Amino acid sequence: MTTDLLPPLTQNADARTYGSESSQAGGAEAGPLAGSARGLHMITWGCQMNVYDSARMTDVLRPLGYAPVESASDADMIILNTCHIRDRAAEKVFSELGRLRLIKEERKADGRPTVLAVAGCVAQAEGEQILKRAPYVDIVLGPQTYHRLPEMVARAARAGGSVIDTDFPAEQKFDFLPEAAAPQTQGNVTAFLTVQEGCDKFCSFCVVPYTRGAEASRAVASVLAEARRMAESGVREITLLGQNVNAYHGEGPDGRIWGLARLAEALSSIPGLARIRYTTSHPRDMGDDLIAAHRDLPALMPFLHLPVQSGSDTILKAMNRGHTADEYRRLVEKLREARPDIALSSDFIVGHPGETDEDFEATMALIRDVGFALAYSFKYSIRPGTPAAGAPRQVAETVKDERLQALQALLREQQDAFNASVVGLTAPVLFTGRGRKPGQMVGRSPWLQPVHVDGPDTLIGVERPVRLDARFSNSLAGTLVKECAPT
Ligand code: SAH
Ligand code: SF4
Ligand code: F3S
Repeated sequence: MTTDLLPPLTQNADARTYGSESSQAGGAEAGPLAGSARGLHMITWGCQMNVYDSARMTDVLRPLGYAPVESASDADMIILNTCHIRDRAAEKVFSELGRLRLIKEERKADGRPTVLAVAGCVAQAEGEQILKRAPYVDIVLGPQTYHRLPEMVARAARAGGSVIDTDFPAEQKFDFLPEAAAPQTQGNVTAFLTVQEGCDKFCSFCVVPYTRGAEASRAVASVLAEARRMAESGVREITLLGQNVNAYHGEGPDGRIWGLARLAEALSSIPGLARIRYTTSHPRDMGDDLIAAHRDLPALMPFLHLPVQSGSDTILKAMNRGHTADEYRRLVEKLREARPDIALSSDFIVGHPGETDEDFEATMALIRDVGFALAYSFKYSIRPGTPAAGAPRQVAETVKDERLQALQALLREQQDAFNASVVGLTAPVLFTGRGRKPGQMVGRSPWLQPVHVDGPDTLIGVERPVRLDARFSNSLAGTLVKECAPT
């Protein structure tokens, strides 16, 4: 649906291709290699947690002399960081591996060996299968073990064969990551910070509890330390990440368990950190303290990704979501009472087993009632091993197609209406870089819209009031102004 808005936890880009978009993650700009550095090429699919993980894998490999390179052919090590959420995830991996194998063979013929690693959620779910079908893969590692990557690289070199590590280790990877200023944030104005991982909710359709393991939160001190390092390196906006980020319950410095509201409050006092976002939230964990934080903490941005999946109580129950459609409506009301300018975004699934026309209409009704600024919508896709995969009354593909079209048309209308509704307002824009045209800068509105403004390079990293003059399909254009009128 959108291509240039920064999406919430989930999608790298387009709603329909979510999970299959690739991006160059690795954090630091890929460039020519200096001296004896080894090239590292990272291919990242899936959600923002994978983007974050790719950046951290780059950090972990840096002391071994690896630096990011643009092209796989220049890489001494290639990591394919995979996503398992929908569709023929494993097939996509094998087809990409086929391509990478050719590169590896070409390099080998030139006397330049390549370490090929598969990471992420497909590695976790299908690690053995990968080694069997693609024996030229050197390393298979799950999302919980990337801190062990240097050891695996050494083992792979010693063994001259493949190494697999898809444990759910007792130690937390976060405790084993390099302490140095997070280099992936160098020069970046915005950054992701994973605070929570895994999921115990077991929605009927979803693989995440099986690929990412049980829910676990990082200790507050570790999060604050990373956030401080980010702020010192110029980051002004942090997006806290977690599959259920609002279920965060990290050990505080006082020995007590802190929730996300308290964590956000502590983060908001870090000098230089102007903005905090978090994603993805579950409606069930949207506690009153967190809602109140949206009222009390100006740094918490007025944009919330709160996936609802369906507007039918029958389907919500079958999905094991743990709330009703009206409970969701009430939650939205409370959020809007707390922060009247809050914009909502969501994920939807059409065609979950058992979904009737009436159920689908209930979803459309919920969308009309709430009004979303942005949304991602998907056709239900069977994930082997999940409860819904074997459920009776699977919905026909053609019906899913029709429903998705109708749903996306409505959501597109709402997104356009939302973007139109901010035209004329003056809002603080955080400038993140240069625009496409000379003399043009791009920034981010409080509602996650890209905003193009004419201005100097010195704006990068600065938040300035901007009058929003015009909207395009996924972005806005504005003019710098002196005073910020209340929005
Ligand atoms: N933890 C988040 C979702 C993470 S997965 C939450 O509970 O909301 C991101 C999105 O992918 C989900 O919100 C859902 O809309 C979609 N999704 C997950 N499994 C899917 C499946 N089997 N078929 C279609 N869409 C799916
Ligand atoms: Fe998947 Fe549900 Fe967990 Fe979200 S809450 S990650 S949809 S099981
Ligand atoms: Fe995909 Fe794993 Fe994220 S399955 S959506 S990469 S948690």
